[in-house]
Amino acid sequence: MGRTQSSPDPAQLEQRDLIDDRVDQLMARMTLTEKVGQMNQYNGFMDFTGPQPAGGDAANKYKHLREGRVGSMLNVTGADNVRALQKIAVEETRLGIPLLIGFDVIHGFQTQSPIPLAESASWDLEAIEKSARMAAIEATSAGINWTFAPMVDISRDARWGRVMEGAGEDPYLGSKIAVARVNGFQGDDLSDRTTLLATAKHFAAYGLAESGRDYNTVDVGANTMNNIVLPPFKAASDAGVRTFMNAFNEINGIPATAHQELVMGTLKKDWNFKGFVVSDWGSITEMQAHGYAPSGTEAARMAVHAGSDMDMESHLYINELEQLVLQHKVSMAQVDDAVRRILRTKFELGLFDDPYKYTDAAYEATIRDSQQMHDASLDMAKKSIVLLKNDNDLLPLPKSGKKIAVIGALAGDKNSPLGSWRIAAVDDSAVSLLEGLKAYPDNDYQIKLGPKLIDGPAQFITEIKINATDRSGFDDAVSAATNADIVVMMLGEPGFMSGEGRSRVNLGLPGLQQELLEAVHERNKNIVLILENGRPLTLPWADEHVPAILETWHLGSQSGHAIAQTLFGDNNPSGKLPMSFPRNVGQVPIYYNYKNTGRPSLPGPDVVFWSHYQDEENTPLYPFGHGLSYSSFTYDNLEVVSRFRESGTVHVSVQVTNTSDLPGEEVVQLYIKDEFASVTRPVKELKGFEKILVAPGQSQTVRFELTSLELGFYDNQGNWLVEDGSFLIGVGGSSDIELSERIMLAQ
Ligand code: NOJ
Repeated sequence: MGRTQSSPDPAQLEQRDLIDDRVDQLMARMTLTEKVGQMNQYNGFMDFTGPQPAGGDAANKYKHLREGRVGSMLNVTGADNVRALQKIAVEETRLGIPLLIGFDVIHGFQTQSPIPLAESASWDLEAIEKSARMAAIEATSAGINWTFAPMVDISRDARWGRVMEGAGEDPYLGSKIAVARVNGFQGDDLSDRTTLLATAKHFAAYGLAESGRDYNTVDVGANTMNNIVLPPFKAASDAGVRTFMNAFNEINGIPATAHQELVMGTLKKDWNFKGFVVSDWGSITEMQAHGYAPSGTEAARMAVHAGSDMDMESHLYINELEQLVLQHKVSMAQVDDAVRRILRTKFELGLFDDPYKYTDAAYEATIRDSQQMHDASLDMAKKSIVLLKNDNDLLPLPKSGKKIAVIGALAGDKNSPLGSWRIAAVDDSAVSLLEGLKAYPDNDYQIKLGPKLIDGPAQFITEIKINATDRSGFDDAVSAATNADIVVMMLGEPGFMSGEGRSRVNLGLPGLQQELLEAVHERNKNIVLILENGRPLTLPWADEHVPAILETWHLGSQSGHAIAQTLFGDNNPSGKLPMSFPRNVGQVPIYYNYKNTGRPSLPGPDVVFWSHYQDEENTPLYPFGHGLSYSSFTYDNLEVVSRFRESGTVHVSVQVTNTSDLPGEEVVQLYIKDEFASVTRPVKELKGFEKILVAPGQSQTVRFELTSLELGFYDNQGNWLVEDGSFLIGVGGSSDIELSERIMLAQ
């Protein structure tokens, strides 16, 4: 992929020069051991995502830290704990270089906002940026100065557990969200005490793991790599993200951690990335298991050569790198480049001016878990809900006078709404749906949660076993449903069923939930199905039989309030799916921006030789971009005027009318198709969207401008091309709209 040039602000340039001078002066005083130390990152006290290291510094009672051989630590939290570590780094080492303190601040720190996939369903960039800002404020109060987020991997396969952590399947939406998150974390000024370094991860193509199995092999061609995988990374780089993280996977036979072409070529050279690259947890040593590096020493050498600047928990840089330099297998220039990049971020954060800036416990106490955090989390949660189906306007529910049966173990679960990747959250601290409903006391609730969903506690490390045999509670649930006006069923996945290492081959409702749903439905069809899950699920039966379905994901600390407010109409749902929901797991990977093939449609009756399944439709159950509202919208007067030859722009406008009597928000989506190109293009590509609030009965005209940035694509050599020819354009409320206007582009 090529690179975009932007002109840096002169004040920033001057600041950068000053920092470069300070880095040079410091580096002139550093020994090789101290330089290698900066490239070494140790885990703190907890062990989340990999085997406990055999020889970490904790075991050595911080010997390495005192020797200046640790540049960063992760998983240490709390102002006092971080202060204690910084004190050793600053006051007990020869050069007093402060530490970077990293943490997976993925969707909030202690207070959880919705999982990233859910936030992405809001299509509200301002809200997403604010959510990252709030997470940064809370995390920095607890000593953290670096988050391993955002994950910008495009994901097309719901079997992969980490789809919950990204922005879904689309590179355009994904790029916008990547920028919003980077800006939210890093703010305008990294030296501010409420901003932290962000990380674009996992570089690259981790989301394309074969068969959705985490860490699995990736084989990806140039076309998909350039146009689908890389754009959100490039957007993050252009937005000034300070760090990148390698990926665990191999790409076409080369582990990402040793991928010179990708890291040294695309990222550092073509994109002119000035920050540093951290390995993923143990990903350097794992190159041995990949069958790529014959030894740890070789793995270290390969990783440095490929531009991996910091070693997270492989312990190979600290153990091997000095020797590799002395043996001239790694050059001093390579080490210097890595150290310069790392030190620069420490200066930018202002750590050399005040190493204790993030370590004020009294301040931390006013920020962590505070009301302002919870208010922001509630706001984001309400924006993240997607109304999938609402036959006969069953929703919103009346606020009083109804007998409502509440069924499903998740309705009472205070842990699952926190989702996966919520390391600093307090267990069971979310507002459950039941608690949210209590704020609406004028209905008569019958609470029958039904069978337990999980065998044993859903602790982080505990293997989640879906309880597949215990039907106790079924009868109670069914009889409560029989006597109710409305049944609210909360079904889906426990919080830890998605996330790292949590791939699934079945995408239906786990355990006995489908059976419970059908049993309840036999007695009462007035069901509102509230889905709580970290990935798209296959729900053909529910779609056919249940009148109202609300997708609530894992909504975070304020989940129950956000859902109750939506059920009773105080919040009008406005989310749109960032990932397609398949009908059947056999369809995945499934995504709206697929290629047409040479045989896209049924050529005649009884012809089998076209691209389809014998036993299922090609289309998803709910497409990308789908989401209803309690309001209803119409789209009229689509106008497309090409001034491409004169001014390089194509103007598109459409009139959106709220035909209901409720104010509502709509995400207006613009899609294009480049009909014929030198490299085939998808049947549809999102190239613009705007979320608007429309008053009842009112219309708004929404305007878009398409330029070469939206109309071009990367060829297989990585060149950006804008080709003359015909384009189809359409605007609507979902990706399943027809592209009704055709323009001829001529430059
Ligand atoms: C492994 C994960 O892949 C990565 O995303 C995370 O940041 C690190 N572990 C650190 O926890």
